[in-house]
Amino acid sequence: MLDNVAVGVIVSTSGGKEHQGKMTLFVFLTCLVASSGGLIFGYDIGISGGVTSMDSFLSRFFPSVYKQQMADSSTNQYCKFDSQLLTLFTSSLYVAALLSSFLASTVTRMFGRKWSMFAGGITFLLGSAINGAAMNVLMLILGRVLLGIGIGFANQAVPLYLSEMAPPGLRGTLNIGFQLMITVGIFAANLINYGTASIKGGWGWRVSLGLAAVPALIITIGSLVLPDTPNSLIERGHDEEAKAMLRKIRGTEDIRDEYDDLVAASDEAKSVDHPWSNIMQRKYRPQLTIAILIPFFQQLTGINVIMFYAPLLFKTIGFGSEASLASAVITGTVNVFGTFVSIATVDKLGRRALFLQGGTQMLVSQLVVGTLIALKFGSSGVATDVTKNYASIIVLFICFYVAAFAWSWGPLGWLVPSEIFPLEIRSAGQSITVSVNMFFTFLIAQVFLTALCHLKFGLFYFFAGWVAIMTLFIEVFLPETKSVPIEEIILVWKNHWFWSKFISDEDVHVGNSESVDDRVEDA
Ligand code: BGC
Repeated sequence: MLDNVAVGVIVSTSGGKEHQGKMTLFVFLTCLVASSGGLIFGYDIGISGGVTSMDSFLSRFFPSVYKQQMADSSTNQYCKFDSQLLTLFTSSLYVAALLSSFLASTVTRMFGRKWSMFAGGITFLLGSAINGAAMNVLMLILGRVLLGIGIGFANQAVPLYLSEMAPPGLRGTLNIGFQLMITVGIFAANLINYGTASIKGGWGWRVSLGLAAVPALIITIGSLVLPDTPNSLIERGHDEEAKAMLRKIRGTEDIRDEYDDLVAASDEAKSVDHPWSNIMQRKYRPQLTIAILIPFFQQLTGINVIMFYAPLLFKTIGFGSEASLASAVITGTVNVFGTFVSIATVDKLGRRALFLQGGTQMLVSQLVVGTLIALKFGSSGVATDVTKNYASIIVLFICFYVAAFAWSWGPLGWLVPSEIFPLEIRSAGQSITVSVNMFFTFLIAQVFLTALCHLKFGLFYFFAGWVAIMTLFIEVFLPETKSVPIEEIILVWKNHWFWSKFISDEDVHVGNSESVDDRVEDA
């Protein structure tokens, strides 16, 4: 296991360390604009759950679900909303996002990060227009596919952009802007749903779906004014522009060491023709493993059961239709504020500490929620006496769970994969992360309603089991990446007790004149 001391030494062997933590106004503003790419993802996560619980929406597009819902409240609460068509509506977006992230990888690498963000914004804009105007299920699904393509592009490019722009010592803080915007998007969507649900005349859902155009416009216009990252500029042969950009974002003339790192990374990248076959090489096994497991684990925390289905879930545990949206607003607020905890601490405490603390808190909360539901609903799913107090306690523990996710697996699930790859395969690696994330988001959205029906309260224990496994995995296998310059991250793997087996000395290329052997030995 790599300890913090080792990382500290790696950092101290590379040059230009006075820039580890300097935030210039320019870098802050560019990262703020780029982060807004998270809004489209968040808005969508938050809007679907609320819309699919609106009577006017259900009765128009999913009449059988609507009839089932109107049924007597004494029927089995775990199985009430089980409809494959309804979950297909939610899930279609994720399949589109999964596939489009591979295309986005090429755009991001060949044309720069900003054009992927632009493509994401425009496609999402189109999708929101079709959805707002939907006359039938086909239009709904088509709209969602376009939204998905938009998200695939944005999630592929934004985290990379942020990690490359940020000075090493602030990389966590700035990258988590993306997750912050995701949570703001979710929260805004929850509020909007709350408002539109009460619109008389049955067209409230159109407002909810159509308003997705607002975050889409923000990232579309925003991406046009963004500069590209120095890493991407060098990768595409614009060396002088890259130097100028580096001076501007670091706020200093002294950029030689960092520039050397970037050039070394870019030379390495140029020797690689096919990032996709390249990524399969043994020396990239550590990064590839993490790029797959982190998003997989992130979804297996079960967070999206809460995010997508909070209104349905709260209905199930006895809240009325209004109260269920109100509860979703509560978890939305906790999600936003929890993210600030991460922003403030990630570059000080490090990624591992947040993962381990957050994982433990989530585990405990899930066990409590599962047990509280078990005690009331048993295995029959029938409960007649769920008091307001009892339901409030469940909501409270759901909030503990969401808060922990918001400062651990939420932001780190995007940050860590975006900072572990060498330049030559960074874009391909990020696509893998996005697609694994989307695949499991899809899977969980698709099977949740059926799973709730069969596993009942055991669903919470199921996710708790996974949280235990992933927390253990982090403890044993995840090296700390806090403050390490992005083009020197290879040294972190080279120093890890397990992952070092995969990396030979010749595989370590960094731009500093000091020999690699010395650096690794120093560390
Ligand atoms: C995850 C989403 C999740 C959101 C909740 C993101 O990091 O990728 O699946 O819904 O966090 O805030």
